[in-house]
Amino acid sequence: MISDKMNIFPEKFETYMEQLVPRSGRGTPQIDEAMRYSLFAGGKRLRPMLMAASYEAFSGSLWEDDKTLLAFMTALEMIHTYSLIHDDLPAMDDDDFRRGKKTNHIVFGEDMAILAGDGLLNGAFEVMAQAVQDADARQAQALQAMTYIARTAGVRGMIGGQVIDVTGTGNDEKSLLVMYQKKTGALLAAALTAGAILGGAGRSDQRIMGIVALKAGMAYQIQDDILDVAGNEEETGKPVGSDEKRNQITYVKLKGLDQSRMDADRYLDEAIGALQRIHGQPADLTAIFKSLIGRSK
Ligand code: IPE
Ligand code: IPE
Ligand code: MG
Ligand code: MG
Ligand code: MG
Repeated sequence: MISDKMNIFPEKFETYMEQLVPRSGRGTPQIDEAMRYSLFAGGKRLRPMLMAASYEAFSGSLWEDDKTLLAFMTALEMIHTYSLIHDDLPAMDDDDFRRGKKTNHIVFGEDMAILAGDGLLNGAFEVMAQAVQDADARQAQALQAMTYIARTAGVRGMIGGQVIDVTGTGNDEKSLLVMYQKKTGALLAAALTAGAILGGAGRSDQRIMGIVALKAGMAYQIQDDILDVAGNEEETGKPVGSDEKRNQITYVKLKGLDQSRMDADRYLDEAIGALQRIHGQPADLTAIFKSLIGRSK
């Protein structure tokens, strides 16, 4: 089970991810290097971990034994990493550090960073489409999971949240929380719901996982904004003060640090509460969410 092995999960997962991502391309090795630079720069691997835990909660099987699941976990981390490369570009947040290293565009240039993001996004769908083809009897489930990820990563999900962010239209509590649900909650929903689908969960449980994800997404992004003010760069691996530099409206700016901390905890509690309604084993997921309370990285 995952919860007692959370510390070693990233390393373990990376050995599987390694097998699914091209090592060096024929013809254009620069792009493979740029993609792999960010993908293997570290990162907490939260979304694959949530997908694996959700799968285990419903299937009762171990995540490492399911090739379809491993492909989907890899694909989601590729999508997340592309979103970070593009988020750091000068046209967006203009940040120089990510995952404890120089950002992709600082090392490879803006042109290659844009293409590396594109490559990871396209590659993610290649990995999922291949997994669907290879899924034999579970093809319908795999296709449903891929469709769900496409939707949550797209303009009604993560990209849509980034649009609210860059246009500065999330400027009161309500629209700010919608922005957080989309830009951060949507990929958590992709993780939890795809894991549930592949684990054989029914429709009502899939829906519950979506609700859990939106609550967790608000908590996770509020905490991210707290860390942008009160965090430690050595721990987070990214700059402190990035939001302030861009005059970004955040939950912390609106509510202050103390209230933000309380609200982040409350949303995580609500996520954990909703989780207890599933027809599965919520213990591991509960432990992961508890570990996020007051996180410092
Ligand atoms: C950062 O995500 C972007 C947000 C949605 C807050 P993570 O905090 O999961 O970053 P990594 O993957 O560990 O680098
Ligand atoms: C971005 O939020 C979330 C994404 C969809 C990439 P932030 O811009 O606050 O994320 P960080 O702080 O750069 O990781
Ligand atoms: Mg941003
Ligand atoms: Mg950013
Ligand atoms: Mg941030």
